[in-house]
Amino acid sequence: MKEFNVAVAGATGAVGDVFLEILAQRNFPIKNLKLLASERSVGKKIKFKGEEFVVEKLDKDSFQNIDIALFSAGGDRSKEFAPYAVQSGAVVVDNSSAFRMDPEIPLVVPEVNPQDIALYKKRGIIANPNCTTIIMVVPLKPLHDYAKIKRIVVSTYQAVSGAGAKAMAELESQIRQYVNGEEIKVSALAYQIAFNLIPQIDIFTDNLYTKEEMKMVNETRKIMGDSSINITATTVRVPVFRCHSESVTIETEKKITRQEAVELLSKAPGVTVIDDPQNKKYPMPLFLSGTDDCYVGRIREDISCEKGLSMWIVGDQLRKGAALNAIQIAEILGEKYL
Ligand code: HSE
Repeated sequence: MKEFNVAVAGATGAVGDVFLEILAQRNFPIKNLKLLASERSVGKKIKFKGEEFVVEKLDKDSFQNIDIALFSAGGDRSKEFAPYAVQSGAVVVDNSSAFRMDPEIPLVVPEVNPQDIALYKKRGIIANPNCTTIIMVVPLKPLHDYAKIKRIVVSTYQAVSGAGAKAMAELESQIRQYVNGEEIKVSALAYQIAFNLIPQIDIFTDNLYTKEEMKMVNETRKIMGDSSINITATTVRVPVFRCHSESVTIETEKKITRQEAVELLSKAPGVTVIDDPQNKKYPMPLFLSGTDDCYVGRIREDISCEKGLSMWIVGDQLRKGAALNAIQIAEILGEKYL
């Protein structure tokens, strides 16, 4: 089996951790592994498959002899260092938003548009979509293929993992502070997140949608290869540790019944249907953290629209929403293209 020299840039963040966990779990064919991060994490020791690795500084010379560079170090670092990785001969799979909407760079969810991976040859970079977009498009793809989606209305319930390791720690400490009757400290997010909801993720754009909401609009169209889909999104941060949930209603050209949707989704790769209303069975973030699929439940025909269908989707933000999707891309890259 072919093996690759792999670099993980941003190895010490919340997503970096999960990258290493999944690379080990899936037995990714690694010849040599290099862990890269910013100055303040240099020298930190991280175990991978029982072996200790020392974190090195991410810089322009980090990518000599690297075949695949997995980036999860934030958009600015991707913009700065991904071009050096490409110059050194690596293919970059980038988890940030830096390159997602670049028309020359593929934006890929392997269950939806694996064929687009081939376009990496142009610029040496493949972009990994935003977590909320990935978790939504995996189940919507088979419904779109069957009935052509005309409109999507989505509201998200996004875990603190999406705001990074500091936000996860902050939710936990705010709960402790509350229980102990102490002052609740706010630093990673704009407001207290324990016992609260924050209806703003990322900054506002001119049309009063947030950047997170516009990512769902623009990225979904690019991944589905269909710019005619109308999408409106409201994205909300919730006090959940690491699974994102989404309430999604679609309007389709051809009617889909609940039964048809259940059948299509039950066969779809990367999707698990949990939908048994009589027995209170539906996907919930608490019970699905750390798993790989996108889970769909509460599937029902929309009583307000003849060709509408509503559903509830849950997916682990750090796994399918970030690291797993990027590693699936890297697996296809390794198997088919390198
Ligand atoms: N933008 C997402 C969030 C995480 O804030 O939850 C990135 O995939």
